[in-house]
Amino acid sequence: MIGIFDSGIGGLTVVRALMRELPQYDLLYFGDTARTPYGNKSADTVRRYAHENTAFLLANGARLIVMACNTASSVATESVSSAFDVPVFEVISPAVAQAVRVTRKKRVGVIGTRATVASGIYKRKIQAMDPRVRVFSQACPLLVPLVEEGWLAKPETTMVVKKYLLPLKTRQIDTLILGCTHYPLLAPVIQRKIGRRVHIIDSSTSVASAVSAFLAARPDVDETLSRQGGARICASDVTEQFEKTARQLLQRPIILESVRL
Ligand code: DGL
Repeated sequence: MIGIFDSGIGGLTVVRALMRELPQYDLLYFGDTARTPYGNKSADTVRRYAHENTAFLLANGARLIVMACNTASSVATESVSSAFDVPVFEVISPAVAQAVRVTRKKRVGVIGTRATVASGIYKRKIQAMDPRVRVFSQACPLLVPLVEEGWLAKPETTMVVKKYLLPLKTRQIDTLILGCTHYPLLAPVIQRKIGRRVHIIDSSTSVASAVSAFLAARPDVDETLSRQGGARICASDVTEQFEKTARQLLQRPIILESVRL
């Protein structure tokens, strides 16, 4: 099965994208709701969490890991990849490749957690692919708690989104990377506030396509993955809100399991 983790509800946007892209594959999700958010924690702590989450997924049958969290992807990709002997996907590179492909004006905005923005990883990766692209980043620390709370369409959320996007708007970006897997849940309000002409890159769909392309090229890995179209959703703290948002997001009956790492 494919193992996916995030600090909370956000990685379910990647689960949704994987269900669309690879509907027959079994998925195991772990949302670390007891320790969310990751975005305000130190790199060492996020790395430790990423290792524990990966070990949990592997112990429960995963044979390929998707770190469906930009914060963990920013600071833990190398250490997780070298510590575990399975393919590990992060959510940053696929979004970067797509952004570089679509930007016309070569002005790309990135929104993410404090830790992701502070890591500077998007800027480094984008400019390694095309040094002419200018990158403008904005940390949006209030968005993850708003999404975890289910405040997706509240006027207060719209106000916060507007405030965060203003500096990027004045920079006249033509492409905006949602550099946090929680943000696709706010895509309608983000699109409205940044403007219709700005191309929004959702890392959940780009990573799902990357996994699918990888499996097509690597039958040896592909054949290790079980395929009954099942989804097991686990969280370190199952709350009513988590359950409600998960059901809304995945649009199918799911069984939520509370797990302790
Ligand atoms: N959804 C995660 C990300 O993509 C983590 C957000 C958080 O826990 O702060 O960065």
